[in-house]
Amino acid sequence: MIHMLHDINDCYTLSNGVKIPCVGYGTYVESDAEKNVEVIGQAIRAGYRLLDTASFYGTETYMAQALKKCGIPREEFFITSKVWKTEMGYEQTKEAFDRTLENLQTDYLDMYLIHWPVPGADCEDWRQLDADTWRAMEELYEEGRIRAIGVSNFLPHHIENLLENGRIAPMVDQLEFHPGYHQAVTLHYCKEHNIRVQAWSPLGRRRVLEDPLILELARKYETSAAQICLRFAFQEEVIPLPKASSLERMEQNQDIFSFEISREDMYRLETMPQTGWSGQHPDGLL
Ligand code: A2P
Repeated sequence: MIHMLHDINDCYTLSNGVKIPCVGYGTYVESDAEKNVEVIGQAIRAGYRLLDTASFYGTETYMAQALKKCGIPREEFFITSKVWKTEMGYEQTKEAFDRTLENLQTDYLDMYLIHWPVPGADCEDWRQLDADTWRAMEELYEEGRIRAIGVSNFLPHHIENLLENGRIAPMVDQLEFHPGYHQAVTLHYCKEHNIRVQAWSPLGRRRVLEDPLILELARKYETSAAQICLRFAFQEEVIPLPKASSLERMEQNQDIFSFEISREDMYRLETMPQTGWSGQHPDGLL
């Protein structure tokens, strides 16, 4: 499949037939508030059309301004947002969704995800909470207000709960994914269930960019360490969502189609010791 993809906006097809770009852009709040709209605008000018936000990130309103400024039709974008831990539940999710649309100044989302499966280690009935949240998402999807629905940070047991209690299977699971933390078990599970995996922190928030193996491969393939991480995700058929604040990095992060990591080197990346993990466990465990 990936041999047919040569550009960040070439698409995979999700289980419901919706097309999704093979590389996206992850947003996060800049310390300098003035810069937020400018950075997202620059990502759009650099060519990104899959833009990832979440109510929790605080970037929805900046994204709305950048989208308005750029003058490119809404339909050319694939916009994802997520329902936060404190917004979960049937009614709350619908309210959160309306707030998100309002923030984004749009009347539909391309994709909406449950941000985390368990709001805290002390949550006693996450199964019910997830099922209620999912029921709201299913309805919004069926009303045509969301083109694809999915989850984020869900491990197989969390997905299993939705498959048992819901009517529609999630189309995407967005996970922390990078060399040194590539979640082989969940990745395998998602592939078996036709759930497309996206990678948040595909560069391990820079923690893996100094790793000796990554540096060795960057030298070997004459690329940067970041490009090794992104190409690794791509070859695993995972959609990376790198964040970057400079045009140079935004462009570099798209240049992953002109080299191929060998099967042998992929194996080394897949089996390297755990490194660069954010420490955020979906079940709130250590
Ligand atoms: P900056 O924000 O200064 O552009 P992740 O997506 O894994 O969370 O990583 C985001 C971090 O990686 C940001 O600090 C970003 O820096 C940095 N980054 C993005 N692209 C590159 C790149 N091509 N080379 C090095 N660092 C990068």
